[in-house]
Amino acid sequence: MTPFAATITPPVDLPAAPPAGVAFDVALDRYHTMGLACRAWAFAEATSREHLADLVRWARSCGKAWRVLGGGSNVLFVRDVVDLLVIRLGRGLGAIDVEVERGVVRCGAAALWRPLIKAARDLGFGGLEYGWCIPGTIGGALAGNAGAAGRAVCEDVVRVRALDPATLEEVVIPSTAISYGYRRSSLRDVIVLEAELGLEVTPPDIIDRRLEEMRAMRKAQPVGVKSSGCVFKNPDGCSAGRLIDELGLKGLAVGDAVVSGVHGNFLVNRGHARPGEMLALIDEVRRRVAAGRGIELEVEVRLVGAGEEAPSATAST
Ligand code: EPU
Repeated sequence: MTPFAATITPPVDLPAAPPAGVAFDVALDRYHTMGLACRAWAFAEATSREHLADLVRWARSCGKAWRVLGGGSNVLFVRDVVDLLVIRLGRGLGAIDVEVERGVVRCGAAALWRPLIKAARDLGFGGLEYGWCIPGTIGGALAGNAGAAGRAVCEDVVRVRALDPATLEEVVIPSTAISYGYRRSSLRDVIVLEAELGLEVTPPDIIDRRLEEMRAMRKAQPVGVKSSGCVFKNPDGCSAGRLIDELGLKGLAVGDAVVSGVHGNFLVNRGHARPGEMLALIDEVRRRVAAGRGIELEVEVRLVGAGEEAPSATAST
């Protein structure tokens, strides 16, 4: 994909020529579902494992931080201009293959949930239907242990192939070596390339019924808006969305950043919100929930662009 409103002319002072596909000063709104008005120092779509490793190596040689994005559905860029190489995983890293004998689906990190669920269903397998309404990629979902309807993706992992960000060598990680909990996973420390997820033999009518339930659940959430899903983690034993709703904060806005009127945990960009507006809205919601209920809400979305180097920045929720 050609990056939007970007230049392919590198800055004159780069220590090394960029790998293929790097663009500079790239608008990021179309690469994350919150669609904030912000830009990246550089952007590239990785077409293969080797290309991905080259991009990271090159960013390091330039002394720049880098971030891998999946679907950009759980990301909040924190500055108008983030001083990063943002790397998106291209379609070539999203192959889906159901292995009938082993009862697993092998999927590239850039794979999306729905085609994966459909491919399994066509071969008589289910078990992953909870992911039907999870936006973003499988790689991103694994990094944040995304879930819905009481199940989360790390519970279904058989093994993962990843790049070790320190060495850029490939590693295979069995499920037993992955530690995870509510919306967190040790897979955030690597660059996931591919995962095998376990499946269960399931009749199609049961799968279809579960998908109907997932669609019904989605009706309680805003769709077709610019958001990153739930912004806050649920505090122990309660829904952050319900808390925000009960405190009358739906509709609270800072500039173009607004608390959804449909679900209180969805903060929506209703136009051209900038990172600072969304961050200020988050602070205000946290402040009011702390004042009203004595609860410190924890942010669930990944804050990206503060300058740190880390392998992965996205998940899905
Ligand atoms: N509720 C309200 N007002 C609201 C929002 C919710 O009263 O504005 C009530 C609902 O009516 C329901 C209860 O709160 O009785 C729980 O709401 P919901 O079923 O929407 O669940 P949630 O705890 O708010 C979690 C996940 C969602 C996931 C849903 C359904 C988190 C932070 N959120 O939301 O995940 O889709 O369950 O499984 O864990 C996400 O992670 O981005 C996300 C959207």
